Amino acid sequence: LFAGPVDFLKGVVAMSGLPPADRAEVCFAGRSNVGKSSLINALTGRKSLARASNTPGRTQEVNYFTLGESHYLVDLPGYGYAEAPVAVVAKWQALLKSFLQGRQTLRRAFVLIDARHGVKAVDEEILTLLDKSAVTFQAVLTKVDKIGPRDRAKVLEQVRGALQKHPAAYPELVVTSSETGEGIATLRAIIAGIA
Ligand code: GTP
Ligand code: MG
Repeated sequence: LFAGPVDFLKGVVAMSGLPPADRAEVCFAGRSNVGKSSLINALTGRKSLARASNTPGRTQEVNYFTLGESHYLVDLPGYGYAEAPVAVVAKWQALLKSFLQGRQTLRRAFVLIDARHGVKAVDEEILTLLDKSAVTFQAVLTKVDKIGPRDRAKVLEQVRGALQKHPAAYPELVVTSSETGEGIATLRAIIAGIA
C-alpha cells in the first residue's frame, strides 16, 4: 500500500526539528495509554517500531515515521496524564498548538479514543483545538477487543454524539483493535488514500 520504506524517522521536540514538508502527513493524537504506539505497530506490521508500554506518558517526543515515500505518520505525545509535571504539559501544549496550526502538509489528525472510556473532557480540549486550527480529524476507537457488543453500540453512540459538536470532525469513525487486527486494514487504506 505504501511504496518504499516504513520506518522510524526521528523524534522531534521543537518545530525547528520537523522534517521538510514535502509529503502528505497524518498525526495520531490521544490520551496517554490509549494505544497509539500499538496501533502504529499494527498498521505498519512492525512489532516494535513504536514503543508500546504500560507506563503512561512514555512517548514524549513528536515521533515521525515514514509510510513509504508518500506519507509521514506522526505520533504525538499522549495527553491527559495526570502525573505529568506542569512545565512538561505546558511545553507540550505549546508545541502541539504550533504543530497543528503551522504544519502545512498535515492533512488529517486521527484522534484515538479508548473504546472502554469514550470521549472524555481531555479529549474535548484537543477536538476544540483541532476545530480552531481547522485540522480535519477522524476518531479512531481503540482496544475494541476489550468490550462486548452492547458496550460497543453504547460507545459508538457516545462518540458520534460528541463528534457532532465539532465542525472539523470527519463524520465516519474507525473501530480498531491492535490485538485482533480489526479495522487495521481499513485505517491503512484510509491513510493511503489521503493525498
Ligand atoms: P503513551 O505513548 O504512553 O501515551 O501510550 P500509547 O497511547 O502509545 O499506548 P500503547 O500503545 O503503549 O498501549 C498502552 C497499553 O494498552 C499497552 O499495555 C498495550 O499493550 C495495550 N493495548 C494497546 N492497544 C490495545 C488493543 O487494541 N487491545 C488490547 N487489549 N490492548 C491494547
Ligand atoms: Mg506511545
